[in-house]
Amino acid sequence: MHDFAKVLYLLATALFILGIKQLSKVSTARRGNAIAGLGMLLAIVTTLVAPGESDRAIQLSWPLVVAGILIGGVLGTWMAKRVEMTGMPEMVALFNGFGGLASLLVALSVFWGDYLGSASFSGTAVAKLPEVSLGLTGPVVWAVAVILSILVGGVTLTGSLVAMLKLSGKVGDKMLPARHFITLALLATVVLFGWLGGWGAAGGWAAVSLVALTGVACLLGVLLVLPIGGADMPVVISLLNSYSGIAASMAGFVIGNSLLIVAGALVGASGLILTDQMCKGMNRTLLHVLVGGFGGDSVDEDAREYSNIRAYSPEDAAADLQLADKVIFVPGYGMAVSQAQHVVKELGDLLQARGCEVSYAVHSVAGRMPGHMNVLLAEADVPHEQLFPTEEINSEFKETDVAIIVGANDVVNPAAIDDPNSKIAGMPILLTHEARAVFMIKRSLSPGYAGIKNPLFERDNCFMCFGDGKEFVQGVIEALKNA
Ligand code: TAP
Repeated sequence: MHDFAKVLYLLATALFILGIKQLSKVSTARRGNAIAGLGMLLAIVTTLVAPGESDRAIQLSWPLVVAGILIGGVLGTWMAKRVEMTGMPEMVALFNGFGGLASLLVALSVFWGDYLGSASFSGTAVAKLPEVSLGLTGPVVWAVAVILSILVGGVTLTGSLVAMLKLSGKVGDKMLPARHFITLALLATVVLFGWLGGWGAAGGWAAVSLVALTGVACLLGVLLVLPIGGADMPVVISLLNSYSGIAASMAGFVIGNSLLIVAGALVGASGLILTDQMCKGMNRTLLHVLVGGFGGDSVDEDAREYSNIRAYSPEDAAADLQLADKVIFVPGYGMAVSQAQHVVKELGDLLQARGCEVSYAVHSVAGRMPGHMNVLLAEADVPHEQLFPTEEINSEFKETDVAIIVGANDVVNPAAIDDPNSKIAGMPILLTHEARAVFMIKRSLSPGYAGIKNPLFERDNCFMCFGDGKEFVQGVIEALKNA
């Protein structure tokens, strides 16, 4: 490898690490994104200009590269411009899946090109081939990397597609009978085809085994994600994100490219940290999520049966807010649906101008993707100093005059702490019910993602503000201005 290209790869790695570091804080996240993007541009340009920098020299076909960049670029731009803010979680899931697909295809195509094209393919198992001995990897490591790229890539691809369909409500939770038995049987098949592909078979049979492994990996992805439902989806999304990084890292070993190994490992590791945070945010263990699987999209029978409901109009809400000294906004998925973030900020500013203390409580699993509420509030230029996570703000609700909940439901449901049999039992919630008054802005008495009744609606200090989030908040602003 040329020293200059090595230096550029090192620089790109440093930019990735710096970018991820800055992404961990709201105040520096935009800059972090730009820095990591710059690192990726540097990585791509270096690899295109010096394709021999991978241990496995890549034969570049410029027409194919340009066609790929053009088609991918046009499609990506079109999708990014077209997607509604509410469709972002599905798009993130789809991109995770594409990452898995790319790693899977790299492993299969390199295997095809190198192994099947080699003179000794008909007589020797992959792991014994002298031709695949590389600078970074020996043949055994190479064979393991090919197998893991295919396995993790396949699971990521179909798991992410199922997650996307579940997030958009097109597919519900499906609990297969004897699911754990089927999964164990598939895992045994993975070991068998993996062994045949790398060690046990030679020539065409090794190729057949790897194609079979691809099929089993894709089936496994479907079976692993299909039964996981309701409130556990945040963990699955971040786990799939981590898998896509692990698959990319394995693809790095397959082509012997150190930068791809590092970049994939960074995504894999940060995805795992996020998964751990999501598990903590829901008080679940990863094992419980993966093997537990409960029907989250099924709506409980009593989920819409309420008594003691008090409805508030925008004018009622404005009248109370005129007297409030301390207000906490609690955004949820409904804020994303109604695109209410800008009017929420406007109301917050209006209250602040009247001398009221205003903050925003952000639950780690509010919305439909990690960081969903942070993204929306940042889009509306809400100062990040006003944003607080659950553990920091929960002690404040007792001294709060009004908690204004805009389209959140599960993350403020007291059943999580009061009812040990609840689907969300043990999940840390925002303690809005401790505020003097709670304004619950939503369109109806419908449940949230977990499909369960929310006893908060019936509490004496809770006032249901029925309507679309944006329209209702706009109404409150007008009423306040006219008061
Ligand atoms: P949810 O519990 O899902 O509740 C959202 C509420 O928004 C609904 O009850 C709905 O009530 C209301 N809503 C919908 N459209 C609205 C509109 N136009 N205007 C006003 N309100 C509207 O939301 P949450 O509290 O943010 O909790 C998130 C849930 O999703 C958790 O269960 C979490 O586990 C799950 N989840 C999260 C993620 C991630 S990574 N964050 C991923 C997948 C699943 P109406 O229909 O009555 O309006």
